[in-house]
Amino acid sequence: MNRAIYPGSFDPVTYGHLDIIERSSRLFDCLVVAILNNPKKDYLFSVDERIHMLKESTKHLYNVEIDSFSGLLVDYAKIKDAKVIVKGLRAISDFEYELQMASINKKLSPSIETLFMMTNNKYSYLSSSIVKEVALFNGNVDCLVPPIVSNCIYQKIKDKYGDKYNQYKTQQRYYCCDLKDTMLEEFLIKK
Ligand code: PNS
Repeated sequence: MNRAIYPGSFDPVTYGHLDIIERSSRLFDCLVVAILNNPKKDYLFSVDERIHMLKESTKHLYNVEIDSFSGLLVDYAKIKDAKVIVKGLRAISDFEYELQMASINKKLSPSIETLFMMTNNKYSYLSSSIVKEVALFNGNVDCLVPPIVSNCIYQKIKDKYGDKYNQYKTQQRYYCCDLKDTMLEEFLIKK
């Protein structure tokens, strides 16, 4: 079976990721979307929550499997018997990091290829961090993520900040200055 892996943090999955998933799933018999589970990194969503959002968002794609992994990507690729790693490239700024990743993965496992797919121009500005920032300041993220994801983000904000968030929603920008130090720092997990 011609199987590929599309790895990432997916914290949370965006329409940019889904565009890559849909397009690359047409190129392989099976595409495994692999969520990194790195206990040292702070994520907004747990692995189970990220799995749930990805499963819901890809249920129309019959050959897409959602899984999580820890450790080295190439080791996981071997376990899954995948010969290709798919990566999305948005802009030049992604290139340097992705080149480094592709090079070390090639060094570690020469038989596994990294395939770069250019992100659809519509989503070239989009990242999970941007989505979290817009949602945190009560902006509309409907055109950035599927409905299941936007529901989960707003719910997460409410769970995390409760009354403070409701206060913020009513006072909008004015209150935003007070929130910056507390909420932003905790909520906007890097990258
Ligand atoms: O969505 P992200 O956070 O940019 O995804 C990064 C990811 C998961 C693809 C990358 O961090 C990764 O492959 N991590 C696994 C560890 C590994 O194999 N690193 C490369 C060799 S040091």
